[in-house]
Amino acid sequence: MPITTALLAEYPTHLPIVADWIFHQWAIRKPGATLENVIERLQSHLQTNELPIMVIALDGAQCIGTASLRSSDLQGHEDLSPWLASVYVPEERRRMGIGTALVQAVEIHAIRLGIRNLYLFTPDREDFYSAIGWESYTTTTHDDQPVVVMRRQLSLNITSAQLEPIS
Ligand SMILES: CC(C)(COP(=O)(O)OP(=O)(O)OC[C@H]1O[C@@H](n2cnc3c(N)ncnc32)[C@H](O)[C@@H]1OP(=O)(O)O)[C@@H](O)C(=O)NCCC(=O)NCCS
Repeated sequence: MPITTALLAEYPTHLPIVADWIFHQWAIRKPGATLENVIERLQSHLQTNELPIMVIALDGAQCIGTASLRSSDLQGHEDLSPWLASVYVPEERRRMGIGTALVQAVEIHAIRLGIRNLYLFTPDREDFYSAIGWESYTTTTHDDQPVVVMRRQLSLNITSAQLEPIS
């Protein structure tokens, strides 16, 4: 079965697994954060034409990754917007191109919504994003950790290949 991408809004039954990933990967480190908070916050991502949106990767009926597009993500950098965030693929599915497909799916939705510049920040995955067209923009800190802010200038030249499901 080919791997495809879709909006979480089209498959809201996958919200609990996406929330679980986000909670355990990131939110758990924030004092007072709970899985219920994350589930509640993700309800606002169940839309298609306004930010925030959430993209998921699917292998048949199984959800195998996620990424989001949101207006703000990094405190102190409110001048930059919007942001690619929460890119996550479960460990057993990594290094198969799913993360790349999720990033590209978010880029395509950004273009659809008229967005021309997209940002992200990463503590340790600069090489992954550089390899797929992102450029380093500036460096800063997040939660006392050094991070690189990266930018993707989106063009309208999206090829049909980028819209095909990955296999
Ligand atoms: C970062 C993350 C999303 C990447 O997901 P992924 O599905 O493994 O991504 P891809 O498979 O597209 O690419 C990952 C690597 O596998 C390589 N790869 C892609 N397809 C491959 C294949 N068929 N065989 C072998 N390697 C492959 C890519 O070249 C890339 O190499 P790199 O690690 O040198 O950059 C994933 O590791 C993850 O969820 N990490 C935890 C959360 C996280 O850190 N998110 C990023 C926050 S900034």
